[in-house]
Amino acid sequence: MPLVSMRQVLDEAAKGGYGVGAFNVNNMEQIQSIMEAARETKSPVIIQASRGARAYSQDRFLYHLMVAATEVYPEIPTVLHLDHGNSPETCQSAIDMGFTSVMMDGSLMPDGKTPSSFEYNVEATRKVVEAAHAKGVTVEGEIGCLGGIEDGHGAGLDGLSHLTDPGQAVEFVKATGLDALAIAIGTSHGAYKFSSKPTGETLKMARLIEIHKRLPGVHLVMHGSSSVPKDLQDIINQYGGKLKPTWGVPVEEIQLGIKNGVRKINVDTDNRLAITGAIRKVFVEKPEEFDPRSYMKPAREAMKKVVALRMTQFGQAGHANDYKPLSLETMASRYAAQPVAV
Ligand code: 13P
Repeated sequence: MPLVSMRQVLDEAAKGGYGVGAFNVNNMEQIQSIMEAARETKSPVIIQASRGARAYSQDRFLYHLMVAATEVYPEIPTVLHLDHGNSPETCQSAIDMGFTSVMMDGSLMPDGKTPSSFEYNVEATRKVVEAAHAKGVTVEGEIGCLGGIEDGHGAGLDGLSHLTDPGQAVEFVKATGLDALAIAIGTSHGAYKFSSKPTGETLKMARLIEIHKRLPGVHLVMHGSSSVPKDLQDIINQYGGKLKPTWGVPVEEIQLGIKNGVRKINVDTDNRLAITGAIRKVFVEKPEEFDPRSYMKPAREAMKKVVALRMTQFGQAGHANDYKPLSLETMASRYAAQPVAV
């Protein structure tokens, strides 16, 4: 089965009342971990690559690895999504390459650092919606700014300085016609999200619920949603790592989000932690090893375990074969039949 549209995957998730994890990749092993977890749990898949990941893996390698994923796992509906596109040009280059979904993050200027104006965000996102929908490709936009920095993208703010304003979110969705909306509710990218277990003061789930009430039909996206589990931190530190104590987004808060319109949950850090812990363990316990497979295999297995667990916790497990994927051409004609109202 070819790569599928993220819009269809999220529409189905909304019908079924579950969420879908969107896992970041940079290399073959990470793609394999996700696909194996999906096969084991019978889950639809969203694989996402940031600009940094595209530069690291090189577009053509990434593209062909994703084609391989669809050949080896034909029973799994698989989306290839651009994470945090910084400009309409970056989104266009992803569409040209075969991504079936793109994020235009117009909450920041094209430098990927400076918070933008509402007008700029609407204009950039709308431009991407027009180009993407003509090809049947899905668009995620963002209103409000996340905390932290990921792959050089992000204002480095704390998660609370640019929360999403619910009224602006309504206006933004109307003006852009996007498919999925990322909101800022106090989360940030990376391992250091919260210095203690988050409360309603630091992780604003009430804000998310308010946005969902005002936009009940819109697929919401939670970024910065790694849970940063203590056991994964401990493995790294046990084998010579130096992580400082930290807290992520508890899975039960994500599950509350899923009950309130969250359909896509971005997870990268948890997988990075799992991979690094597994590699450190081999390096310490078997210092005589030098075949990369001796540490890449346990790393791949460790990431697969985290992904399979999240797929189960988010509720997407068991839903891989609920529907027949629609072609991008069919998606394009659906969009053409319902042009964006301004
Ligand atoms: P984490 O750093 O919490 O995994 O977030 C990843 C993310 O939001 C990618 O866009």
